[in-house]
Order: sequence, then structure tokens, then C-alpha cells
Amino acid sequence: MEKTFQEALDFRHACKVFDENQKISDEDMKYILESARKSPSSFGMEAWKFLVITNDALKEKIRVACWNQVQVTSCSHLVIALAGIDSLKPESTIPKQRFQRRNMPQEQLDFYLNLYAEHLAETLSSDKNIYAWTSKQTYIACANMMSAAAVLGIDSCPIEGFDKSVVEEILGLDITQYQLSMVLPFGYRLNTQPERLRLSYEEVFEFIK
Ligand SMILES: Cc1cc2nc3c(=O)[nH]c(=O)nc-3n(C[C@H](O)[C@H](O)[C@H](O)COP(=O)(O)O)c2cc1C
Repeated sequence: MEKTFQEALDFRHACKVFDENQKISDEDMKYILESARKSPSSFGMEAWKFLVITNDALKEKIRVACWNQVQVTSCSHLVIALAGIDSLKPESTIPKQRFQRRNMPQEQLDFYLNLYAEHLAETLSSDKNIYAWTSKQTYIACANMMSAAAVLGIDSCPIEGFDKSVVEEILGLDITQYQLSMVLPFGYRLNTQPERLRLSYEEVFEFIK
């Protein structure tokens, strides 16, 4: 039975070891992945791509470049979140295509394209800056996937402990197009969930009235 959102938040933790014998069904994986596709993105650019890896030999190679973390190979499905680079540039046809989906008149389209190029001039000024912007957005999609998985009683572990360029090389990425943002394994826990450590409500929230 599906968990409520609150139950899912309590169930989710950074799972360190998955049960290698338990595989996620295609149907459940689709449910998880769809939550990424439906996530918000700045200007609706959807500047991301997600690789879904189940190949053991490839998982093994990636693990070595991820501080040898066992989650990478013990998981059922290894999702690799990629952040878009070149497609975001104003000279690319993609921003125009994304805006055009909204069926707006030419005048409004020009307005948005101008706003996009001007408002984001600094953000779009280098591949490094674009990566910083698009990678933040993939994290929203990754968070949604972790929560969606937890609703189904499926575990996950967000991983940033990797050698970025080595993983990109293993995956044969053209880094002018996509760069590695997050490694995100999914599967079923082998061990019991550790105690949750969190700051208090009062420490984290400040209400301004
Ligand atoms: C951006 C980011 C990177 C992380 N990288 C790793 C990682 O490389 N390996 C790992 O085991 N956990 C990683 N974590 C998980 C955190 O250590 C974990 O979320 C935190 O300690 C709180 O524990 P909990 O998620 O189990 O409540 C990462 C979390 C985030 C948000």
C-alpha cells in the first residue's frame, strides 16, 4: 500500500546498502521517474536528462569513481542525473522551442526570449555558470524521485561523493551537452533505518510577520 507523504518522508533515509536480490518493478520505476519529468524547471527549460542503469558491469565501473560506495552496485536501478549545458544558450534553438510550446503570439515569444537572454546573461556566460544553474534544478527532480520512491516503500541515496570528470568519462558524456549532477541509486534496504538526526524546528524556521 502506498504511504502518505508524511509517512514517506519518515521512511526515506540515505540508504547505505541495498538488498541486491530485490529488484524494482518496471511499473514502480516508471512512477519514480515520472516524478522527475513532472518537476519544475526555470523558465520551463527542462535542462536535464536521467540515465537509468541496471547493467552490473557499468555500475561496477561507476562505483570506483564514487568513492567505492556500495550503494552504487547493490542498488536495483542507478539513476544518473545530468545537467544540460549547450542547449540552454540563447543561440541554441531549445529556449525558443520551449517557449513556443505555450502557443504564444510572436510578440510575446520575442519578449520571453529577450527576458531569458538578458535576465540570465551572467548565468549563461560560461559552461561552469550554466552547470551551477541547471544542476540545482536537477536536485529538485532528484528530491521528487526520492519522495516518490518512498511513497512506494523504495529506498534511495543521494550521492555527490564522486569524481565528476571520471564518471563523465565512464559514461562517455559530451560535457558541452550534459554534465554529471547527481548519482541516485534506488532499491530496497538491507539494514534497519538509523535514527534520524535533525536540527529542531525552532533552529530551522524563522517566521517573519
Ligand atoms: C547533495 C547531497 C550529497 C550526498 N552525498 C552522499 C554520498 O555521497 N554518500 C552518502 O552515503 N550519502 C550522501 N548524502 C546523504 C546525506 O549524508 C544524508 O542525507 C544526511 O546525512 C541525512 O541523513 P538522512 O538522509 O538519512 O536523513 C548526500 C546528500 C545530499 C543532499
